[in-house]
Amino acid sequence: MLTETSVRELLNKMKDPFLHKTFEETDGIVEISLKPEKNHVSVKLAIAKLNTAEQMQLQQQLVASLKKLGAATVGLRFAQLPEETIAKYQPTKEEDTSILGENSKTNFLAIASGKGGVGKSTVTVNTAVALARLGKKVGIIDADIYGFSVPDMMGVEERPKLVNGKIIPVERFGVKVMSMGFFVEDNSPVIWRGPRLGKMLASFFKEVNWGELDYLLLDLPPGTGDVALDVHNMIPSSKEIIVTTPHPTAAFVAARAGQMAINTDHEILGVIENMSYFVSKTSGEKEYVFGKGGGDKLAEVLDTKVVGRLSLQQPYEEKDTFAPSVYQEDHPNGKEYIEIARYVIQQFEDK
Ligand SMILES: Nc1ncnc2c1ncn2[C@@H]1O[C@H](COP(=O)(O)OP(=O)(O)OP(=O)(O)O)[C@@H](O)[C@H]1O
Ligand SMILES: [Mg+2]
Repeated sequence: MLTETSVRELLNKMKDPFLHKTFEETDGIVEISLKPEKNHVSVKLAIAKLNTAEQMQLQQQLVASLKKLGAATVGLRFAQLPEETIAKYQPTKEEDTSILGENSKTNFLAIASGKGGVGKSTVTVNTAVALARLGKKVGIIDADIYGFSVPDMMGVEERPKLVNGKIIPVERFGVKVMSMGFFVEDNSPVIWRGPRLGKMLASFFKEVNWGELDYLLLDLPPGTGDVALDVHNMIPSSKEIIVTTPHPTAAFVAARAGQMAINTDHEILGVIENMSYFVSKTSGEKEYVFGKGGGDKLAEVLDTKVVGRLSLQQPYEEKDTFAPSVYQEDHPNGKEYIEIARYVIQQFEDK
């Protein structure tokens, strides 16, 4: 029967969609009025959050339940619960199970450089692949939102899938990859400004189902400008590798990137000198085409050490596998990256 008591009993048991407490507990029933001659009931409820999808759902539930109770027509109004009530019943924060959560065992390694084109993305990709070759579970976030290049370098042709509202990263050479490149059409430029950039990056951490990861590598935007600084500030504090070429002025510029890392709470793990030398095909001798000493100089300034030197060389060409920037395991640079990966593991895990 439709009486005030029966309506109140029904509402008392229903729950606030945000606080997950009954309306009896939250004292959320503001008003119940009946027009028996018309079998009309109108109800006013106070809830924690107004105008949400959850409210819509609650509305439907209410109408259905009240009609079951005998109402022919139902009027619903909503108000906001007092702050004190909300604060009192606010659910304790759901445990953050993302890779940024407290229980996350993921190690973060960022790759930075003072200027563009020194091989930061190449280093990121190959260090990640080497870590995977050593049996680690590895992911890459291409944090160079505007200048993304990781998918192309690794020869990734698939796109991530959406499963249960979470993005599943694409896997290549045992490395999970997330990049802005997956979300733009036809290589068109990304013209977002700060806030959207930040949102995108945050979603790479939170809305991607990374599964369990031992290492997450971050390919940072080049330089020490606004974007690089924004990204540094956005990503979790991590260890960082600075990439430079051997030219002394390159090292000078890279030192600023090192300073930025330190200022943003990223501990410097070491310097990688890329394009260090060229091995002459005829004499087998090393030719220092881009100069010498840049890496050592940078390491000295940053009070760290050179943890790898890569020769100027392309990966071997392969018939079946297309990955323009991934060095094979038996390639001289591939071997050097294994050493770099061993060093990284030792720095993170042997302490
Ligand atoms: N050791 C190497 N030998 C030969 N070519 C290399 C080497 N390292 C990088 N390259 C090439 O140099 C170019 C720049 O490298 P990469 O894109 O990795 O640099 P980056 O610092 O990430 O650049 P950006 O600042 O544009 O992001 C690429 O074409 C890459 O293939
Ligand atoms: Mg790059």
